[in-house]
Order: sequence, then C-alpha cells, then structure tokens
Amino acid sequence: MASIVSVSNLSKTYASGFEALKGVNLDIEEGEILALLGPNGAGKTTLISIICGIVNPSGGKVTVDGHDVVHDFRETRAMIGLVPQELTTDAFETVWNTVSFSRGLHGRKPDPAHIEKVLKDLSLWNKKDNMLRELSGGMKRRVLIAKALSHEPRILFLDEPTAGVDVSLRKSMWEVVERLRASGVTIILTTHYIEEAEEIADRIAVINGGEILLVEEKDALMTKLGRKQLRVDLAQPLERIPDSLSSYNLTLEDNGQSLIYDYDTSAERTGITALLATLAETGIRLRDLSTQQSSLEDIFVEIVEAGR
Ligand SMILES: Nc1ncnc2c1ncn2[C@@H]1O[C@H](COP(=O)(O)OP(=O)(O)O)[C@@H](O)[C@H]1O
Ligand SMILES: [Mg+2]
Repeated sequence: MASIVSVSNLSKTYASGFEALKGVNLDIEEGEILALLGPNGAGKTTLISIICGIVNPSGGKVTVDGHDVVHDFRETRAMIGLVPQELTTDAFETVWNTVSFSRGLHGRKPDPAHIEKVLKDLSLWNKKDNMLRELSGGMKRRVLIAKALSHEPRILFLDEPTAGVDVSLRKSMWEVVERLRASGVTIILTTHYIEEAEEIADRIAVINGGEILLVEEKDALMTKLGRKQLRVDLAQPLERIPDSLSSYNLTLEDNGQSLIYDYDTSAERTGITALLATLAETGIRLRDLSTQQSSLEDIFVEIVEAGR
C-alpha cells in the first residue's frame, strides 16, 4: 500500500532545550488504523502536532500525500482532522455552529447535509442547538470528533481519545472509527493502553523517549509479546523447585510462597493443565491461582533491552 504520511528523520527540541523527538522515521499507509503506543511523555502529541502542522519541527521532514507540512501547510492541514488530547471548546457556542464553523476554517464550502450526517453518526443530533457548556465531558469529546470530521478529512488523528471516557462512549467511538476506515479514511490514534491498541489497530508503532522502537502489524506483535504469567500461591513455602517440575519454566518468588509460570499465549497448549496435575502429583497444595498479562511496562523493558 502507498504511504499517505511520510515522516523522515524528524527531530524536535523545545525552547526549554528538551529533546522530545530524536530522528523519527514513520510511514503511515493509506486506509490503515495505526496506534501510536507509548507512555506519558514519550512524544506522541509532539509527533502528531508536527504532522498536523501546529508545531514546527527542529529537523527532518514530514509529507502528507506528497506535500511538505511546513511549506504546504494549508493543503496538508485541509486533508487532516485532529481530535486533540485536551478538551478545548467555546463554551457559549452551539454544537451546530461550532462544527459548521470548523468546516469553514478548513476552507470548505458549507454543507449542512454533511454536518447533519456527522452529528447523527456521533449521536449529537438532538444536542445540535445546545451550548457546549451544557454538555457532559463525553459529549464534548464527541463534539471534538465532529469538528475534526466537519471538513471530510482523508486522515484522522485521535490523540488519547479515550482518556477519561466511559465504556459506552468508547464503544461508540470505535464504531465511528470502523465506519470511517471502511470509507477509506486513514486513522492514527495515540494511546498508552496496550488493550486499546490491540482492540482497534492494524499496525502498532511503539514510541518511548522520543524514539520509535518498533512498527509492526498488530497480529505479529501480539503473538510476539503475548506472554502471560500464572501465579500459583502455595499452601506451604518451598525451598527450591522440585525436580518433578524442572521441565516447566518456573521461578520461585515471595520466599518460596509463590511459583510463577511463564507461558506463551500463542502456543497451542499453555501447559497449565499439565502443570497443575504435576503439582498435585508432587503433593504441592495451592492456596490461590491468578494470571497476569505482560503489561506495557514489561513490553517496553523487553523492547528496549532487545534493542541494546
Ligand atoms: N511546549 C513544550 N515545551 C517543553 N517541553 C515540552 C513541550 N511540550 C511537550 N514537552 C515535553 O516533551 C515530552 C513529550 O511530550 P508529549 O509529546 O506531549 O508526550 P506524550 O503525548 O507522549 O505524552 C514531554 O517530556 C513533555 O514534557
Ligand atoms: Mg500526549
């Protein structure tokens, strides 16, 4: 597939001297959903702000559909819809006016039928005459999405769209995203939740400390990183792992009170059933069992260490 956004050797040093991006390279393919995954402070907002032309790069180059985002700002900005991380809305304007006005700001002729469709898609139609200050936080976020879609962008950026959003809004947001993708819109969302990236993205780019650590198809990444741990709390502490259990990938923790079993979720058999049977045969009694998935934190550590 052709790339619609091309980022090459992009760097950003803020006036404070802080280096927020360090030589970022990234190609975004037309029609895909890319999740930009990274912890707070990783540089996600900085990166998308530069692509959207609202923050100037210190070095490197970004093109959108072949146009440079600095030199051809108006052209590239018109192709992009941005849903910002912060909720900023004019409290005393109506939903309808805010969204219609936003279309005009991007140089598009009025199209009430399009605005109506956007508001209906986002379940905002019955609020169209309400002032923004009368809306709940979730509704305000929908208005930001409606604004971003008002000028029919080919590319939509969602910066931490689900921060502080309830489950039902999150679900309806993903439905809107799926519909947009089906209509050919390229979607980039930033998040620090791996579950979210997993749920929605075609590809995942991991960013940390201003550097892209990897870009990969989601399915391949989840297979690679989908390790889980089973924690077995024991009725009696063990001094060491008995020989009968030596074939399992086990570690002893908490002064021998817990056995930790690392297994691969993508494997055909996890080996849990066999492990529990062996524990029973060995006469080891259990107090509790729990599983935990590798967290984003673990995954970062793993990726960063693998890169050394
Ligand atoms: N205007 C600014 N001036 C100085 N430092 C900034 C500015 N904006 C962001 N930063 C710093 O750059 C780093 C990356 O920020 P940001 O791109 O917002 O990360 P993210 O969106 O991944 O949380 C952070 O350490 C942040 O404090
Ligand atoms: Mg951010």
